[in-house]
Amino acid sequence: MRPGRLLTFALSILVISGPVWAQAPTPEKVSSPNVKILTDLYAQQFQEEMNLIVQGLGVTCDLCHVPRNFASEDKPIKLKARQMLEMTRALNKQYFPDYKPKEGESVLGRVTCYTCHKGEQLPKTSIGR
Ligand code: HEC
Ligand code: HEC
Repeated sequence: MRPGRLLTFALSILVISGPVWAQAPTPEKVSSPNVKILTDLYAQQFQEEMNLIVQGLGVTCDLCHVPRNFASEDKPIKLKARQMLEMTRALNKQYFPDYKPKEGESVLGRVTCYTCHKGEQLPKTSIGR
């Protein structure tokens, strides 16, 4: 093959198959035996949901997680947080079933951790308390 034709051949392959760097890997959903409520989420969505918990409660990841072992269930407060996830999901399911979360909002729905916690680890019961 002459050099000119070789180039055309190479370019046509590039056009048909597309540049390799444009092919993003197919995202995978998070699955772990210790993910029981926030199932069926992509890694990115899952990460955003954890960030919303952190903001909702005004805490850091290590309140609930053992360093470098996010799946660990050693901290009782993680189990408490899971109950809260269950409660929040149930509230949304029963009272706000038609609410569709917008971009950047919690997948849980209209009621979120922030609704009650307002950036605090323990929600207030009344003004000032
Ligand atoms: C208030 C408690 C709490 C905080 C704070 C928190 N998480 Fe979580 N995290 C949980 C709970 C509860 C689960 C399990 C969710 C479920 O069962 O669906 C979980 C699950 C996870 C998992 C999945 C682990 C597995 O089983 O494979 C990762 C990863 C994770 N969290 C990362 C983070 C990161 C990163 C932060 C900080 C940005 C964070 N979490 C903050 C409560 C928390
Ligand atoms: C409907 C209101 C409500 C919502 C929604 C809610 N919480 Fe709570 N949460 C509470 C109340 C009330 C307490 C205090 C319970 C107690 O005194 O034992 C609490 C306590 C907690 C605690 C224990 C704090 C501590 O220091 O003992 C954690 C952790 C927690 N919530 C996480 C969450 C997370 C994560 C979400 C979102 C998935 C959430 N909560 C959503 C009302 C709520």
